Amino acid sequence: MYNAEVKGTGSFTPEAILTNQDLEKVVDTSDDWITRRTGIKERRIATNGLKTSEMGARAARQALEAAGVDPGDLDLVVVGTVTPDRQFPSCACALQEKIGAKRAASMDVSAGCSGFIYALSVANNAIRCGEAEHALVVGSEVLSSVTNWDDRGTCVLLGDGAGAVVLSRTDKDTGIRSIHLRSDGSFGNLLYSVDQSDVRSGLEILPGVSDLKPYYLVMDGQKLFKKAVECLEEITRWTLDKAGVEVSELALMVPHQANIRIINALAQRLGLAQDKVYTTIEKYGNTSSASIPMALAEAARQGCLAPCDKLLMVTFGAGLTWGASLVEWSCQL
Ligand code: UT7
Repeated sequence: MYNAEVKGTGSFTPEAILTNQDLEKVVDTSDDWITRRTGIKERRIATNGLKTSEMGARAARQALEAAGVDPGDLDLVVVGTVTPDRQFPSCACALQEKIGAKRAASMDVSAGCSGFIYALSVANNAIRCGEAEHALVVGSEVLSSVTNWDDRGTCVLLGDGAGAVVLSRTDKDTGIRSIHLRSDGSFGNLLYSVDQSDVRSGLEILPGVSDLKPYYLVMDGQKLFKKAVECLEEITRWTLDKAGVEVSELALMVPHQANIRIINALAQRLGLAQDKVYTTIEKYGNTSSASIPMALAEAARQGCLAPCDKLLMVTFGAGLTWGASLVEWSCQL
């Protein structure tokens, strides 16, 4: 049996910034409320029709370059997203074409905000069983296209972006040490999509934001908050246990960026110091499947990870779905 190691990471963030002050003009909210209740100050918005596959491709090219892997050598492309360009063909196929991964199998994974960790698990299994040597795992979202811009309870939370990771086969005892996924459809009513376009105003907040899909996101924030903290703690402890790693051994935790209070509550329950938790929520808000790979790429670029470091990624989202992975870091970038 082989192991899968992270060889490179990449991210892409659209240029247009939507600040809390901008949102004050759209819904009955305030910078103070958003900052205190969520930790978010601003988010990026994909304008002028920028699509999920294009943002994912830009993140992927960066990850491939960092990994020193040629797109033509990829065996597998897996994209976690809830905002694919189209229902079909998959976003992964569009991305595969854009980057020239000519011999890769490609597929999307739909697991809410857990899409990236679910996709990572698919790629990890393909590498471990010998089916793939190099795999590209992407989380990419244009959440602004499924945002109800009249709903202050959700529109202040969401943002757009993409992140990518290249996984490669290794026979060394390193890389992904443990990865575990969960789901519970009985809580599907806490975060879901509604198939109606006529309820939304399609505001011209920024050019391109009115490029809305015929469904939008609905959330029971309070109930979800409580479930999130419970599930994140449970899966983190389980994943660490299966990897035989103590919380005190972690060099870095990169959690899904949904709310700074959820992240802080998790760190507190685990007894993990704040400087070991990487957050980007202040700048990007909640970017669903993209939030972990975006944060990971940024953490790697900033030198927060060194070879042999133990990294914990943990997520939670619509489904409900949740999952975590413990990785022994082995790449230089
Ligand atoms: O990524 C997938 C997972 N996502 C999550 O896990 C999100 C989990 N939930 C949350 O992050 C939080 O529940 C929210 C940020 C969504 C909401 O924060 P909260 O502290 O739970 O607020 P709340 O829903 O209990 O609302 C408190 C008050 C209400 O007013 P009243 O009824 O007390 O008068 C809301 O109407 O805050 C009001 N409110 C707002 N006020 C200003 C809700 N949204 C806003 C807003 N600006 N944007």
